[in-house]
Amino acid sequence: MNFTSLAAVVLCAGKGTRMKGKRPKVLHPILGRPMGYYPIARAFDVGASNVVVVVGHQSEEVKQVLSEAFSTRTLSFALQDPQNGTGHAVACAGPALKEFRGAVLILSGDVPLITAQTLKALIDAYRATPGPLALLSFKPKDPTGYGRIVRENGRAKQIVEHKDATEAQRKIDEVNAGIYLADAGFLFEAVKTLTPRNAQGELYLTDIVAAANDVAVVEAHPDEIAGVNDRAQLASLGKALQARINHAHLTAGVSMVSPETTFIDENVTIGEDTTLGPCVTLEAGTQIGSNVRIGQGCVITRSVVGDGVELKPYSVLEEAHVGNKSIIGPFSRLRPGTELAEGVHLGNFVETKKARIGKGSKANHLAYLGDTVIGEATNVGAGVITCNYDGVHKHLTTIGDRVFVGTDSQLVAPVTLGNDVFVAAGTTVTDDVPAGALTLSRAPQVIKEGWVERRKKVLAGMKK
Ligand code: UD1
Ligand code: MG
Repeated sequence: MNFTSLAAVVLCAGKGTRMKGKRPKVLHPILGRPMGYYPIARAFDVGASNVVVVVGHQSEEVKQVLSEAFSTRTLSFALQDPQNGTGHAVACAGPALKEFRGAVLILSGDVPLITAQTLKALIDAYRATPGPLALLSFKPKDPTGYGRIVRENGRAKQIVEHKDATEAQRKIDEVNAGIYLADAGFLFEAVKTLTPRNAQGELYLTDIVAAANDVAVVEAHPDEIAGVNDRAQLASLGKALQARINHAHLTAGVSMVSPETTFIDENVTIGEDTTLGPCVTLEAGTQIGSNVRIGQGCVITRSVVGDGVELKPYSVLEEAHVGNKSIIGPFSRLRPGTELAEGVHLGNFVETKKARIGKGSKANHLAYLGDTVIGEATNVGAGVITCNYDGVHKHLTTIGDRVFVGTDSQLVAPVTLGNDVFVAAGTTVTDDVPAGALTLSRAPQVIKEGWVERRKKVLAGMKK
């Protein structure tokens, strides 16, 4: 059946008893995102203009997390309470799509690995069939528990749930994936006529198959249809998704020393010839350039890393921008608001926060640079601290170009160092320093020759 607009209904009202614990099933994370995120994202991927999520169990929490994940999309929620089965769940979404004319994609919140490609095949099959319904089937190793697809002359005639099936029907190896595409008018009329005359006393969505003639069926790969009912399945689907994402990057020219320990969220981009060491995690829309080397154990969240950058092992980046050809780590921590220009070097145990650092500047050892603007070609020595916090407010430290900040200095903000300033080691800078000046605040060094021997004698005399 042809259509011009697509909407989606994602069923997320179930309790998920076998997951144990308090967290709603669809909010359990898989590779950094709640499970329910994935089917919703796939619905948008294939062109749904409007997605209705049916919630019931712990509905407020589910609504909040999912609406935050899709804050820029048209996502709405329908409440199903109590949960009287999948047909009832779809009926509950009816009012939200009252004005909608077109095709409705129905997905399950606990089937996260479904791909856009398979949904497109379902859409094509629906367009090619005269009837108002198409669905996905698959052939699992063990069909126990699933609805069996009863075919007649090759077309699906009926779905019989495992609990309602005869011995002969239970031998059918093709089962219902729980993913459908239906004409909106047909669907919301059909779910009104469902009755709970079945083994579970619920309104089965599967009964709409008998009401539609000429149902198109597309067989999907079982790996995509795998559902999550307990935490062992959650872990194994996480592994499967990780392998799928990593494979896509490997195919696109990214090297990984150990793909099985590399965790990359979807929506992360990585340029060609970039190499990821073992145990690297790239999260939440991070963008990595080409020819980047990321060492073992780096964790990068919501960050942008330029071309030719080297991130040495165990560096942690959060909402940071790293310019091309910079060298970071090992053990650097770049916190939100860090913006590094090209060729910046930050070494071990350097922490930055809201720090804008200019081209070619360096802080190679043990420093804290917070609320700081640093110019180009400046060198920050070991142990330098910007004292940005007075206990109440945060203050800015501004450092010019070609400045030398000597080892173990403290810069008490607000303070400004002009271009070409030289800060002697161990200085506490409290006042602004004009361009080209030397500043030092240490007490003059004293030397007392022979003092150690003299002291020994004094101490020995005291013992007697
Ligand atoms: C369903 C299908 C079955 C199919 C299987 C595939 C029915 C009657 N049966 O069975 O043919 O083989 O999926 O996995 O549809 N949900 C609600 N509200 C409810 C009940 C369920 O929102 O009242 C949601 C669940 O949260 C879940 C989805 O619908 O996301 C499927 O429900 P579930 O109880 O797992 O259905 P199955 O018994 O597995
Ligand atoms: Mg199920």
